[in-house]
Amino acid sequence: MSARAIPACLLLSGCMGTQSALAPAGDQARALFSLLGLMLWVAAAVYAVVIAGLGWALWRAWRRRGADARGEAALLRGTDAALTRALPLTAGAIVLGLTVLITGSFFADRAVFATRAGPALEVRVTGHQWWWRIQYRDPAGGGWIETANELHLPQGQTVRLVLGAADVIHSFWVPNVAGKLDMIPGRTNRLDVTARRPGWYRGQCAEFCGTQHAHMAFDVRVESPAAFRAWLAAQVAPAAPSAGRGAAVFQATCAACHAIRGAGAAGRAGPDLTHVAARRSLAAGTLAMTRGNLQGWIAQPQAIKPGTSMPQIPLTPADADAVAAYLATLR
Ligand code: CUA
Repeated sequence: MSARAIPACLLLSGCMGTQSALAPAGDQARALFSLLGLMLWVAAAVYAVVIAGLGWALWRAWRRRGADARGEAALLRGTDAALTRALPLTAGAIVLGLTVLITGSFFADRAVFATRAGPALEVRVTGHQWWWRIQYRDPAGGGWIETANELHLPQGQTVRLVLGAADVIHSFWVPNVAGKLDMIPGRTNRLDVTARRPGWYRGQCAEFCGTQHAHMAFDVRVESPAAFRAWLAAQVAPAAPSAGRGAAVFQATCAACHAIRGAGAAGRAGPDLTHVAARRSLAAGTLAMTRGNLQGWIAQPQAIKPGTSMPQIPLTPADADAVAAYLATLR
């Protein structure tokens, strides 16, 4: 069975998907996938050697049981002797297998965590309980702009992810694209990733970080460099906010924690909402981005994600709806 046949088998058993180390879409994930293939080959070889050795020992003992009246005792003695003779072969197979695994692991590790000189793009990703602050540099030189819970990567380009944490230890993991790396408060980790296959993937925090650890996910979009540039240009642009009840309620109630560039909101405690409606999901991958879900999240955050920093704000249903309608215009 070739390494390529593994995804075929798992596809049949339903293990493939947008969050899977078995469907690599980038160089680093492919190196890990190759290491998995190597491990399976070595394990299969060990299994084959053990089964063949046992079969051989039994067969020899069976042949030599001879005219002994107590044939079973002879069978056991013969098996024992044959297994003893097979010891050097077993030891050799173990040494060879471990050497192959260590060598493969060494090169996979180098491929996954190598940092190259001068990557084209640097993206800051900071873990928060329980969401992801994501910052891109304005290509025009205007500093860093901010988004949340959605990482865009240009296909075929090496991107340096600068990983940090604001509160507790989190772990960055997009299995289709890269290996996982911890995000540690007070420390900066770097992970170079090269995505190859366009599509939507799912990232997930891989270090237990509190009650909503399971709901600390994010969307990853791998797209052509042209589509990526267009997306980044749209993110860099300030919001085009509408006026009205929703905007007024947001400014009075939400702006202390959330920023909307171009609308006078500059809170930093929660996710930047400048282009929130252009995202695929909200509440860190918990809900699909629809106006109904926006309203539900605004009205009942503690019911949807108990313990979230987003407080239960006593808005009237009409005001929650107005804020949702306002945010839905921020594309
Ligand atoms: Cu963040 Cu688990």
